Amino acid sequence: LKRILITGVAGFIGSYLAEYLIGQGNYVVGVDNLSNGSIQNLKESGECKDFKFVQLDVRETNKLVDILLQHEVTEVWHLAANTDIISSHDNPMRDFQDCTEATFSVLEAMRRSLPRRIIFASSGSVYGPLGSGIAVPETVGPLKPMSTYGAGKLASEAFISAYSNLYNIDAFIFRFGNVLGDRINHGVVYDFVRKLIGDPTQLQIRGDGSQEKNYFLVSDCIAGMNFFVNKYSFAELEARIVVEELDLYGVDISIEGAKLAWPGDQPIVRLDCGLARSFGWDCEQDSDSAVRITAKQLYLKFKMEGSQ
Ligand SMILES: NC(=O)c1ccc[n+]([C@@H]2O[C@H](COP(=O)([O-])OP(=O)(O)OC[C@H]3O[C@@H](n4cnc5c(N)ncnc54)[C@H](O)[C@@H]3O)[C@@H](O)[C@H]2O)c1
Repeated sequence: LKRILITGVAGFIGSYLAEYLIGQGNYVVGVDNLSNGSIQNLKESGECKDFKFVQLDVRETNKLVDILLQHEVTEVWHLAANTDIISSHDNPMRDFQDCTEATFSVLEAMRRSLPRRIIFASSGSVYGPLGSGIAVPETVGPLKPMSTYGAGKLASEAFISAYSNLYNIDAFIFRFGNVLGDRINHGVVYDFVRKLIGDPTQLQIRGDGSQEKNYFLVSDCIAGMNFFVNKYSFAELEARIVVEELDLYGVDISIEGAKLAWPGDQPIVRLDCGLARSFGWDCEQDSDSAVRITAKQLYLKFKMEGSQ
């Protein structure tokens, strides 16, 4: 359905995300400089014809522009970042380069090519100390990061906000917490399991033992992001399906910005055949296929009419 770029694709979340998006029928090109990720993580995606991997540092903006144009990418999931928070304590430049500068380069490459949607993996670390509070939409602060990792994410968010405003780029920013899954290579659960494999008789907890953190599974993280991205993308998705069925590339899809597309328009319609299904009837084509089939039929009809 879509042509997507994932940065940081060889990492923990990026590699699962690639599998998910390919599984949804999309074409995915993934880039990674392999500073922390591993080709091993791409074993499954690598076997799919709808997946391409390019080893690249995303700060190489010109090369990124070439990739976006060559693969006709229309959506970017930007996950590349330094995630080794411990090592960046001694080398804070890593967070500036692989997070802030990397995000700037991705945005710049987008500005100079086609994609008008970015999905960014930010982090709860942008908040800084929450004390006993919980980060909820009404209290999205304090936004005082305590690590250069968090600072890099907050600075990236600021650039995304500006580019979104200036260059008509849709942006989704997800500030998630500690994600778990079997491809993690650091973190408390990883540390515990490794220690216990080494010595099943004892386990030392780092810190003072009073840490309190939220965890969630990588499958939920990916499904959650996709839920929100798809929820707010229907009209554009339909436009892209029509463009695809007409075999056109490089069409600059823009959004007018009016609240109603025309007088009397009902902007959100979500109907379901559930009741009909309970009687034993279901439609053969889903909503996307209906758009696809009709776009093709109309295209052929208009072509025929034009040639008469
Ligand atoms: N895992 C978590 O708990 C968590 C929580 C909040 C946010 N995030 C964010 O989600 C994203 C993915 O996290 P992850 O856990 O999969 O980390 P990860 O380290 O496994 O993946 C990041 C990938 O980015 C690549 N990379 C780093 N700098 C690059 C550059 N300049 N150019 C190209 N590739 C580069 C690394 O090689 C790595 O494969 C990151 O942006 C991270 O900050 C992760």
